[in-house]
Amino acid sequence: MTDKLIIFDTTLRDGEQSPGASMTRDEKLRIARQLERLKVDVIEAGFAASSNGDFEAVRTIAQHIKDSTVCSLARANDRDLSRAAEALAPAARGRIHTFIATSALHMEKKLRMTPEQVLEQARSAVRFARNLCGDIEFSPEDGYRSDPDFLCRVLEAVIAEGATTINIPDTVGYAIPELYGQFIRNLRERVPNADKAIWSVHCHNDLGMAVANSLAGVKLGGARQVECTINGLGERAGNCSLEEIVMAVKTRRDYFGLDVGVDTSQIVPASRMVSQTTGFVVQPNKAVVGANAFAHASGIHQDGVLKARDTYEIMRAEDVGWSANKIVLGKLSGRNAFKQRLQELGVELESEAEINAAFARFKDLADRKSEIFDEDIIALVGDESVTAEQEHYRLVALNQHSETGERPQARVTFAMGGREVTSQSEGNGPVDASLKAIEAQVQSGAEMLLYSVNAITSGSTESQGEVTVRLQLGGRVVNGVGADPDIVVASAKAYLAALNKLHASVERVAAQG
Ligand code: KIV
Ligand code: ZN
Repeated sequence: MTDKLIIFDTTLRDGEQSPGASMTRDEKLRIARQLERLKVDVIEAGFAASSNGDFEAVRTIAQHIKDSTVCSLARANDRDLSRAAEALAPAARGRIHTFIATSALHMEKKLRMTPEQVLEQARSAVRFARNLCGDIEFSPEDGYRSDPDFLCRVLEAVIAEGATTINIPDTVGYAIPELYGQFIRNLRERVPNADKAIWSVHCHNDLGMAVANSLAGVKLGGARQVECTINGLGERAGNCSLEEIVMAVKTRRDYFGLDVGVDTSQIVPASRMVSQTTGFVVQPNKAVVGANAFAHASGIHQDGVLKARDTYEIMRAEDVGWSANKIVLGKLSGRNAFKQRLQELGVELESEAEINAAFARFKDLADRKSEIFDEDIIALVGDESVTAEQEHYRLVALNQHSETGERPQARVTFAMGGREVTSQSEGNGPVDASLKAIEAQVQSGAEMLLYSVNAITSGSTESQGEVTVRLQLGGRVVNGVGADPDIVVASAKAYLAALNKLHASVERVAAQG
């Protein structure tokens, strides 16, 4: 058994399945590049057969990522597996991750297949996949609620066909740490060819135990791969959180005795990038990446930390990538300083034209905000990652008036499919009036599920406001994010960003019909 723990990141696949977290191809590539800087071992880039958009995203990531293995999910059928192999063709190292449900409930009610049919389909899928790719992962979906005797037969068969990683999902987050750990150990002891594969854990967080269950799968069960997402992003209560797993194993190396290859200084930048891209805000008290994770408020704690850090700190903030809010640039900073800071932040803009456009936005921001922090720059290039063809709507100008005792009014000018339109409306407040003005023109009919405002850098009203708007239309849920020192403008940008995502509507097939 190896003493290395493989970190398999599925932010771009299972994380993206969270309603509203869908990302464009370019957004996914930016995150994949950050995951590569983070040095995760495997990046699950998407589900190539689910839509043309996902296929393109997997293929683009496979073209650009060289240090991490790039993986695509595929159902256990020839079409999905061929699509996955096609999308992964340019990868330096590619992996196909195939799955089929094995619990009695899923087989009977969802697949309408007998256990014998499922066993045969799993076997033939892995045999087919093995001819397309040398690195095959197999997952029995709802594995933790499956009958262990049946599961052993399926797993033995797929390992015999050449599966190199066996992943045991707790698909619905039902497991308890000790029981899950024993479940994995039991399977590894009973499957005769268990030693021919690496065992992996994949836990959902419905009972808040995804990280604890995964760690038990590693410690008690002997798993050597953990599947996880940045910020624990994922459907319902989310997936196992990467930052918590990595820091638990590193901080308690005395207990786990395992190495992880992750560059922990890239954790906070990755967390910010995922949260700014998806609009899923990180709770302040979230372990490792929450804004308060290293903030000592009580006098006794502060006194202790000043005398000796380890009195109250088990990890160092800088080791996970927290830097004190640094004033990095200002109004007088030139293009070269800006470009260098982008490089230091690990932001790669593809062309000189993109750098110029981002620099113009930076200058505009610096005119209105005297201190520009790293977080401001990241938000600014987040705006920049939207390409012209994805930008059907773009804010041009906004004018609003609010006065005590009067009903606020707004006039918004924006580009809509290449032509400029101006629209005005009243509203309960200036934000409401602005969004109503936009909607009056666009007439999307979308329902707003969420509106939230956050300060990008804490501690001052001079911060930029970052607004997230979540819209639902015809079963599709999208998030739009906008940043600006003026929160009314940030709100209009966020609303237009969400409309852009609805406009670029990507159709997806249901995960397993
Ligand atoms: O949770 C799950 O069962 C999955 C599988 C597709 C691996 O995400
Ligand atoms: Zn999952």
